[in-house]
This record gives sequence, C-alpha cells and structure tokens, in this order.
Amino acid sequence: MKLEGNTPLTFDLFGNEPLQSQAAVEQIGPCSWVLRGFALPWVQPMLPAVQAVLAQAPFRHMVTPGGFTMSAALSSCGSVGWTTDRHGYRYSAVDPQTGQPWPAMPQVLMELACAAASETGFPDFIPDACLINRYLPGAKMSLHQDKDEQDLQWPVVSVSLGISAVFLFGGLERKDKARRVALQHGDIVVWGGVDRLRYHGILPIKPAEHPLLGEQRINLTFRKAM
Ligand code: SIN
Ligand code: FE2
Repeated sequence: MKLEGNTPLTFDLFGNEPLQSQAAVEQIGPCSWVLRGFALPWVQPMLPAVQAVLAQAPFRHMVTPGGFTMSAALSSCGSVGWTTDRHGYRYSAVDPQTGQPWPAMPQVLMELACAAASETGFPDFIPDACLINRYLPGAKMSLHQDKDEQDLQWPVVSVSLGISAVFLFGGLERKDKARRVALQHGDIVVWGGVDRLRYHGILPIKPAEHPLLGEQRINLTFRKAM
C-alpha cells in the first residue's frame, strides 16, 4: 500500500465508513511527536486482528543477552519479528517458539501505522515488523535504543492501548535526562530522523483497569526492519 504525501487520513476498511483521526499533536523532539488519541477510530477492528495474531504467536517472556527475563511479554507480526535470547537481539522471519513464520501484519494495523507516519511527515513508511508488548501492572521497559533495524531513515511508530503508562524519552546518550510523557489508550508516539536513536523506556506500570482491555497495557511498535 502506498500513501501519497497529501492523502487525507481516510481509509476504506472492509467497505465501511472510512476511518479518520483528528488527533491533537504534541511535538516532543525535533522529529518526534505524540498523536493524542490517534488510534481510537482503529481500535474496534484492531483488537480482533491482534487477537488472531496472538492465537498463532502467543505472548512469551524473552531473555536478554545479559540473562534477564523481560517483564513485558512479547510477540510480533509482519515479515520479520524481533527476538532476543542469550545470543543477542535480532529480527527473524521465524518465531523461535513455534518454528513457524510470524503471522502476517493485519491490514488494519498496517493502515494505522501508515496513517500515523504520514501525519508526521513519513508518507512512504511501510513497516515490515510490528512488535506487540504486553505490560501487566509492575512490568516496565528499561531505557534502550531501537537500533536493530537495517535502515534508520524510517521512524518508529508506537501505539498504546489499555491502561496508561509513563514513557521515558531520553536523548542520544543513556545518561541524558529523559522526559516523562504520560501515554493513554489510543495515543501514538512517532520518532524518526535526528531522534531515531533516542533512548526510551516505560516506567513500571501502575495497577489500573481499562474498560476494553482490563488490567493490562498493550503496545504495538511498528518498524521497517529489513
Ligand atoms: C518499546 O520501546 O519497545 C516499547 C515502548 C512502549 O511500550 O511504549
Ligand atoms: Fe523501543
């Protein structure tokens, strides 16, 4: 799917009313934005699509090269998925847990990622990987850079669903002060360009109940990996 530069944010999904978003935009870096509530119109068709992915590639807790088990549970869809084990971080076409290719990226997810990227000046972004992180209360993501992708000209598009989180958005060095950005259900963060390698993470999730998703936060992170 190719979206032209000035394409309005309308998509004819399943022949129904086109989805569109009029999100409030907050700039958090020279090339980084939070699109408040941008994903909300997509949530209804997105949840069954994510469930279908998870039926094929269930959540699992991966181990880092340093031997730590990640507190967020992870899955992926797309032509490649991100994995980690004692040997390192990498993208793989096969889910190491099932030995099968990762589930294809559902069209509704692709459309949402493309719409958000387009809104922030990346109209040609076509992700090939969508990481799905599940945070139960107490789970966190330590400060890290997304740098396992081959071509860093493409942004990271990160969709938050479920209970809220505090996103840490640091600088290009680990020691740089990180700003705290509260992320709610439906918010999207996009970072690219000069901000592409900024450190980021998630503070331990506080217990809460979301009307649709219960006591969990789901994060979908789209990248062009290969
Ligand atoms: C990540 O950096 O992979 C996830 C960020 C998030 O959960 O918002
Ligand atoms: Fe990340």
